[in-house]
Amino acid sequence: MMNTYRIDDGRQTLVLATQSDRLPQVVYWGATLPQTEDLAAVAAAHMIDVTGGMLDENPDLSLCPEAARSFPGQVGLILSDADGRAILPQFSVTDVAQGQTLAFTSRDDNHGLTLTFTFKVDTHSNVITCQTTLAADTPVRLHWLAAPVLPAPQHAREMIDVSGRWCGEFQLNRTPWTAGLHMRENRTGRTGHEHFPGLLVPSAGATNTSGDCYGFHYGWSGGHKMIAEELQDGRRQVQWGNAPDTDSAPATQFETSPLYITYADNGLNGCGVSFQRHLRDNIVTWAAPNAPRPVHYNCWEAVYFDHQLPVLTDIADRAAALGAERFVLDDGWFGLRDDDTSSLADWVIDGRKYPDGLAPLITHVQSLGMTFGLWFEPEMINGNSDVYRAHPEWVLGACDQILGRQQKVLNMALPEVRDFLFDRIGAILGGNDISYIKWDHNRVLPQPDAAQTRGTYALLDRLRAAFPAVEIESCASGGGRIDYGILSRTQRVWLSDSNDALERLRIQHDAALFLPMAVTGSHVGPRVCHTSGRTIDITMRAWVAAQRHMGFEMDPRELDDRETQVLKDVTQWWKDNRNWMYHADILRLDSADPAVTAELQLAQTGAQFVVFAGKAATSAQISPRPLRLTGLDPQASYRISLRNRDDINPLSRGTTLLKEQDLTMSGTYLMNNGITLPWSFPERMWIVEGVRV
Ligand code: DGJ
Repeated sequence: MMNTYRIDDGRQTLVLATQSDRLPQVVYWGATLPQTEDLAAVAAAHMIDVTGGMLDENPDLSLCPEAARSFPGQVGLILSDADGRAILPQFSVTDVAQGQTLAFTSRDDNHGLTLTFTFKVDTHSNVITCQTTLAADTPVRLHWLAAPVLPAPQHAREMIDVSGRWCGEFQLNRTPWTAGLHMRENRTGRTGHEHFPGLLVPSAGATNTSGDCYGFHYGWSGGHKMIAEELQDGRRQVQWGNAPDTDSAPATQFETSPLYITYADNGLNGCGVSFQRHLRDNIVTWAAPNAPRPVHYNCWEAVYFDHQLPVLTDIADRAAALGAERFVLDDGWFGLRDDDTSSLADWVIDGRKYPDGLAPLITHVQSLGMTFGLWFEPEMINGNSDVYRAHPEWVLGACDQILGRQQKVLNMALPEVRDFLFDRIGAILGGNDISYIKWDHNRVLPQPDAAQTRGTYALLDRLRAAFPAVEIESCASGGGRIDYGILSRTQRVWLSDSNDALERLRIQHDAALFLPMAVTGSHVGPRVCHTSGRTIDITMRAWVAAQRHMGFEMDPRELDDRETQVLKDVTQWWKDNRNWMYHADILRLDSADPAVTAELQLAQTGAQFVVFAGKAATSAQISPRPLRLTGLDPQASYRISLRNRDDINPLSRGTTLLKEQDLTMSGTYLMNNGITLPWSFPERMWIVEGVRV
């Protein structure tokens, strides 16, 4: 007997079917099916044929493929009893609850196991949140538990997953679908630069702006595994879960992290916009939801560990004059921290640098109209610290482990460690007017351990409950801890330690497939970039930062008059536009010129937009190719205007209209022909503003 269930959110339909009492499988995922669709027919039509060399019936590609039901590929659950003997479960569905959430419960009585799958719909973002839980009557050892397993489309030729490195986060990798496994297994114990847990599966020929695309994000900060497998029969599955064997002790309750999935028929952007909206509107818990995002100043690249009050107050004066609204004091204020060899875990204000505490600096910063933020790296400890000398047993991993940035990791599973950190951080927050934490995590774990991540989440939750007005930025040597698990507890990510505007342009562009402007920190770096050695003009540096949550990180004492003026101007532009940009969708443009990385940010109302067209390199052809816009109403007219006409170079001698005047064109024209921009040097950005008329 076949039962069917459908999930609809107005853009996509997911149809699940159970055959007899076997686990449900997804028999359709894609564009919305008519309400009249015969789901039994959908399920029956989904069955593939059987021929020589195959079993007499094809094993289900269920929400948890089971070895005991002859599934020929990777299974969704691997576990053993407390003594290490393998268990091969075989589940039967016992209950289905369909409301706002669709929940399937199934049971294996022989092994005393209960398996549950949930699917939660959000019609605003079109992201479906799904999760698997496992309960055992007696303790079992879990090796692998997949979140609900989804089929991948047959009409895709490739998949796009995400890797990266320090100063080079969010690199998109296209891998062809072929027989067998494509696996990502992150054993670093943190989300990692290397392994952002995201996947896009575009149909053949899909672009940023057109075609079908399926999106996945796994919201966990402790390292994940992703399996994309094509079976001999051609079926494809995608599995996500916490990195295997990271729940080391036998237990009776397990759950995966939430898996976020979406289908869109308008290209990679369709998935990207869904993820942006879902994260901003449903996941992040904003301390002050309606407050404008403040312009940051972060002092790291200005002073590093050399904290001197007169210098910092001078820098604060200059940052405020540029338009900064939040001053973040980075590493170097605590213990005896003159370089990165000591003092992590000694969260006590350094009396040599701040004899009167942080109050004089905070008062000064506040007198300039800025709020104050402070850097911590709570999970870390230096061997050269008072806390280490008192509590070497608080460290995670072996005594002789390889260090990372000369530091070790505190064992966050220990309640006494969390209590200690809560007390120390709480004392600093409670004793000073601090409204922001930059929470760093500069090394991988000595070994992956889910309890570590849970401990960190618990500490974050406790601190947020005690200090609800304090916002937190997730940083891990830049973008080493970015995922929706950490972002349900933090409000900003430090996307990269690269303040090189060219590198940032690319990183931001690719990260926008998962991250909205509201959470993505982006700072104007020094004239000569500290991590790439490149010298980049202030216009490019300023506009790239203005694409996201803007800030400054250079020493403002280096700025000449022109640079100061450009920065003030762009910062004011950002302040004038940040409120609608906060809610905007970031749409990546399909640039005909590979030298140009461009995006359009479209207001929620559709009434205005801004295009950022960054020319990262010299173009092959001499004149700019028209840039096709997207997301507009074809029938509407838009007045478009080149915002930064002052940046037109004298070598641009032609009559390109936008140089001289605004244009009013239809959405159809703008999306089909595109806008023709003036010639420019490389490493420059054009800003085009549009208003619906
Ligand atoms: C790494 C971060 O990514 C930097 O922004 C800075 O905060 C340093 N750590 C401080 O040690």
